[in-house]
Amino acid sequence: MTIRHYLQFKDLSADECAHVLERAAHIKKKFKAVEKYQPFADPDRTLAMIFEKASTRTRVSFEAGMYQMGGSVVHLTTGDSQLGRAEPIEDSAKVISRMVDLVMIRTFEHSKIEAFAAHSRVPVINGLTNEFHPCQILADLFTLAEYRPASSGKPLDAFKGKVVAWVGDGNNMANTWLQAAELLGFTVHVSTPGGYEVDPVLAGISNRDCYKVFKDPREACAGADLVTTDVWTSMGFESENEVRREAFKRWCVDEDMMRQARPDALFMHCLPAHRGEEVSAEVIDGPQSVVWDEAENRMHAQKALMEFLLLGRLA
Ligand code: CP
Ligand code: NVA
Repeated sequence: MTIRHYLQFKDLSADECAHVLERAAHIKKKFKAVEKYQPFADPDRTLAMIFEKASTRTRVSFEAGMYQMGGSVVHLTTGDSQLGRAEPIEDSAKVISRMVDLVMIRTFEHSKIEAFAAHSRVPVINGLTNEFHPCQILADLFTLAEYRPASSGKPLDAFKGKVVAWVGDGNNMANTWLQAAELLGFTVHVSTPGGYEVDPVLAGISNRDCYKVFKDPREACAGADLVTTDVWTSMGFESENEVRREAFKRWCVDEDMMRQARPDALFMHCLPAHRGEEVSAEVIDGPQSVVWDEAENRMHAQKALMEFLLLGRLA
C-alpha cells in the first residue's frame, strides 16, 4: 500500500479534503457530546511528534487528539534527541518509523520534512515548516465552513467564490492559503510590504488566478469574507525582527481595515498573536474574531486527518 503523507495542503485532493472536513465535524460532535471515539485503541497506534521549533497549539492538539482516539504519543525535540547532535534526518526517519504508526514534524526547511518522509515507513504530517502550515489551514477552513456553511451542507461549497484577505508576511501561512485557494476555488487578496511578497513557485501553485496582489492592505480587505493575518516575524527569522517591525507598520489589521471587508466578515489568526503589531486588540478580541474556535478546531481537524491517513476513508 502506498503511504500517504500530508506535507503540503495539496497532498489531499479536493474530494479528500471534503471528506476530512466532514469527518472533523463528526468527530467534533462526538467530543462535544463526551462520547468515546477510539479507533486507535486496538491495536494501539502511536504518534511520534518531533518539534524543532516551539509550539503550544500544535503540541496540545495532536497530543490530546491522539489520546482521545485511544492511541499514544512520543514527544521529541531537537534538544532532547539525537536530531540535535546531527544524526542524519534520513537515519532518524528509518528508525522512528519502525516503531510508531504516524509522525508529525515541525521543522525549518521544507526539504527536511521531505527527506524524512522519503525514508519513512509511515505517514508523515507537516506540523509547520518555513514554507507551509497545512494543518492550520485545514482547521481555518473547517472554522469558516462552521461559521458560514453552504446551503447545500457540503463543506467545499462554503469556499467556492469566497474572498480571503491575507494581510502581512508572505510566509508559510500565506503560501498554504494560496494552495488551498487553487485546490478549492476561492481567491486570496494578498497584501504584503515590498520585499515580503508571496512567491507562487515557492507556494507550489500553477494557477496564478487564485490570488490578487494589493499594495494597500485596506484594498485587499475590500469585500472580503475573511480577513486573516499572522506574526510579522516567523520562527527562525528572529534576527530580522527590528527591520520587519519597521517594514510592516502599515500592515496591522485594525477596525478601519475590517470595515473595508463585508459586514459579516470573520477575522482569523493562527496564533500566537501580538496585539498592537499585526492585529489590534479591538479586532482580535472583537465580535468578528473567531480565533478561539479556530485554535480548538486544530484538534478536531487533525483527528480527522490522522484517521484518514491511518485508516483510510471511513463512512
Ligand atoms: N498556530 C500554531 O501552530 O500554534 P503553535 O505554534 O502554538 O503550535
Ligand atoms: N508563521 C508563523 C506561524 C506560527 C504558528 C511561524 O512560522 O512562526
